[in-house]
Amino acid sequence: MKIIRTVIELQTRLKEMHLSPVGFVPTMGALHEGHLSLAQSAVQQCPVVVLSIFVNPTQFNDKNDLKNYPRTPDSDLELLKKVLRETDLVFTPDIKEIYPEEDKREFHFGNLDNVMEALHRPGHFNGVAQVVSRLFEIVKPDIAIFGLKDFQQLAVIKALVKQTGNKVKIIGNPIIRENDGLAMSSRNRLLDPVIRYHAAIIYKTISAITLMIKNYNIAEIKSFVRDSISNVPGFKVEYFEIVDDIDLIPLSTKDEMRKDKRYFGCIAVVAGKIRLIDNIEIGLV
Ligand code: PAJ
Repeated sequence: MKIIRTVIELQTRLKEMHLSPVGFVPTMGALHEGHLSLAQSAVQQCPVVVLSIFVNPTQFNDKNDLKNYPRTPDSDLELLKKVLRETDLVFTPDIKEIYPEEDKREFHFGNLDNVMEALHRPGHFNGVAQVVSRLFEIVKPDIAIFGLKDFQQLAVIKALVKQTGNKVKIIGNPIIRENDGLAMSSRNRLLDPVIRYHAAIIYKTISAITLMIKNYNIAEIKSFVRDSISNVPGFKVEYFEIVDDIDLIPLSTKDEMRKDKRYFGCIAVVAGKIRLIDNIEIGLV
């Protein structure tokens, strides 16, 4: 794989290689098996893959979060060597390459702006839309792969692509988990060891609701989730909602479930000082 730092160099390489489809995996680094699974699936589908590593300041509503975001460039490259081929490109741009001038664009995503992450992280998805649309402009991928781990982000990107008329195909890949079920995340390495040990409760709890949905109503399921997680010292549930995968409209009763839709239970938990998100698909009842 080749490491590339500038837009011009990236575009020249892609032009010279003239391979298609071009696969793209955007990341913010601090890579783990979850990211690598996306890269692997891009490699399987595309003769050339661009993987970007860029910690995008415009999507951090909390400046401390940006400051503390883990940065592990050496280990990132070591991990990528295991998955990427000689022809693949790792794009690690400087901020000026992405934002030659301040990005003042404002995006609107209807209901996606009014639920879950959008309520708790104001401006976050606008920043994600800014950087992803800019990266799409630079890389011009045919296929872009994202993780279902960031469920609402995936819905936002699909809406963004629809709005802009971009032809890129957006693929959502399954969540990769640690042995105890915790969804892999760059932020897991910031967890205090005791909190990390107890963090398995998140997946354990949301897994249980895939069975509970048959016999309990939505209000009962919500209190079960809140109680079982908030009972663990240091853990607080920020939200838990069951939503469809397109508009992300929260269900208040099971009667609202429609056969032509898929539903996911989505959760955000503050574990110690670190905010974690996860989700699971819930079958129709
Ligand atoms: P980042 O958090 O680095 O994630 C990059 C991609 O990896 C996202 O599509 C995310 O959903 C996926 N991912 C993270 N953990 C995963 C896991 N455990 N299993 C499967 N996929 C996982 O998401 C971002 O960066 C940024 O918002 C970005 C899209 C790069 C824009 O800045």
